[in-house]
Amino acid sequence: MKIAVAGATGRIGSQLTALARREGHEVVELARETGFDLLAPAGLEEALAGAEAVVDVTACPLDQAGDFFPAVARNVGAAATTAGVRRSVVLSIVGVDRAPDYDYYVAKLAQEQAYRESAPGVVVLRATQFLEFAAQMMEWNTQDGVTQIIDVPTQPVATSEIVRLLLDLATGAVEGDVELAGPKVESLADQVRRLVAKTGADVRVETVDAPPSLAGGAMLPGPGALLRGPAWEEWLAGQ
Ligand SMILES: NC(=O)c1ccc[n+]([C@@H]2O[C@H](COP(=O)([O-])OP(=O)(O)OC[C@H]3O[C@@H](n4cnc5c(N)ncnc54)[C@H](OP(=O)(O)O)[C@@H]3O)[C@@H](O)[C@H]2O)c1
Repeated sequence: MKIAVAGATGRIGSQLTALARREGHEVVELARETGFDLLAPAGLEEALAGAEAVVDVTACPLDQAGDFFPAVARNVGAAATTAGVRRSVVLSIVGVDRAPDYDYYVAKLAQEQAYRESAPGVVVLRATQFLEFAAQMMEWNTQDGVTQIIDVPTQPVATSEIVRLLLDLATGAVEGDVELAGPKVESLADQVRRLVAKTGADVRVETVDAPPSLAGGAMLPGPGALLRGPAWEEWLAGQ
């Protein structure tokens, strides 16, 4: 089957592209690096011709998200409709509908809505944070030997499980919107402290206020979510 991956060169996109090819699918890689700026697309309908599904795993800097996500959704949605694509799969985040006080989640919810309004056969996978998220947060929020981390509960999940499910949604092996999470609730601040202890990094961890919705558990999955291991600690032990 021909599958287009928007954001094919990213963390999720590159794993998804590799998995799809291993399983015999033809993949069209859509990213600026491969010649497609999805904010100003040229030749996108031609690229999508004959594709059964398009999967959007694009991302952008936090301060551009409000414009970026809905704009890319509308551009991909319009081209997918013209090209006759059957399914449009969107990677979103658990809790985007419960965090009106957090701009990035507002932008991701707008992305979902723009897809539903403009694209054919939309299915949304809302996943929790990647297992790598605590390390990413530490990297993004460390300055002058101090790491400032929001103290929020999270239930991180393996990117390999996200990618597996995205491909199954693209092929139609799994149908309908899905929530996906890891097996265990963690405190993001505790995760960062444990990372510091494990790596011996010379940094002090300070907790800072989070948007109230996130501090109150908006990032945690609902009762109907699929739960897939490994738990964060088990995964970290193997790193
Ligand atoms: N981090 C988490 O814990 C988490 C949890 C759940 C869901 N998510 C969601 O997962 C998604 C993927 O995240 P990721 O970490 O895999 O992202 P990433 O590694 O930053 O990759 C982003 C991709 O988007 C492409 N891109 C950016 N701007 C583009 C443009 N104008 N036109 C075309 N392509 C563009 C990039 O390629 P070029 O730079 O070459 O254009 C790259 O392939 C995000 O939407 C995020 O919200 C993240």
